[in-house]
Amino acid sequence: MAGNWKMNKTSSETSEYFAEFRPLVADTEDREIVICPPFTALDAAVKGALGTRIAIGAQNVARAKAGAYTSEVSGSMLRATGATYTLVGHSECRKHFGETDEVVLPRTIAALESDLTPIICVGESPEDRASGQTEMVLTRQFAKGIGPLTPAQFGRVVIAYEPVWAIGTGKTATPEVITEAHRIIRREARSRFGDEAAEALRILYGGSVNPGNAKTLMAQPEIDGLLVGNASLDPQSFAAIVKA
Ligand code: 13P
Repeated sequence: MAGNWKMNKTSSETSEYFAEFRPLVADTEDREIVICPPFTALDAAVKGALGTRIAIGAQNVARAKAGAYTSEVSGSMLRATGATYTLVGHSECRKHFGETDEVVLPRTIAALESDLTPIICVGESPEDRASGQTEMVLTRQFAKGIGPLTPAQFGRVVIAYEPVWAIGTGKTATPEVITEAHRIIRREARSRFGDEAAEALRILYGGSVNPGNAKTLMAQPEIDGLLVGNASLDPQSFAAIVKA
């Protein structure tokens, strides 16, 4: 159960969040929780999560290890904060900052080389869906961003299916639509990496998840977890989703 805070919360707001969130999820030992705050709040989040099983993730990672890459943050810098996950290829990075399928692969590899678990985001735009291109887009995103990984690298990634039309819109994809997309992703995983790796792969769903729909979504066998934006900003609402 992963929360993506996007560009929200200062470090002091992050500390307040964890003080409230920790006791709410103290009895959920059987599920993994990841929270991805902005870079500037990573330290506060790691401190806030100390002594719990809540993992902290970044929202992106640089391709390069170090050097003249103004604005970027490297995997080793992230790891040094205590973060253990990072998002890669989020649709907002694709939309606002021109990230492409080609960038997803080196960022993923950089994350793995710094011992971070990448949560690789894929998903079709509203136009892709309207024109019947969903399968083609997911297949292409897999082929370019994930397919070239080695089997050992692939075994360490998490994939998040986030249809762009469902993000921040209140339009959650139906369980049928999500199941179909997850099957396409798992089929691609199977054909490239084999049955065992495809079965072990965790595929999260993201897009307008809230405490009211989380239970139905988690009841779908194809959905292994959720990547939550807006509803993860409030400790009570994210805790309710984690418990669902
Ligand atoms: P919302 O849950 O706000 O729709 O955002 C989803 C998302 O982009 C998570 O990465």
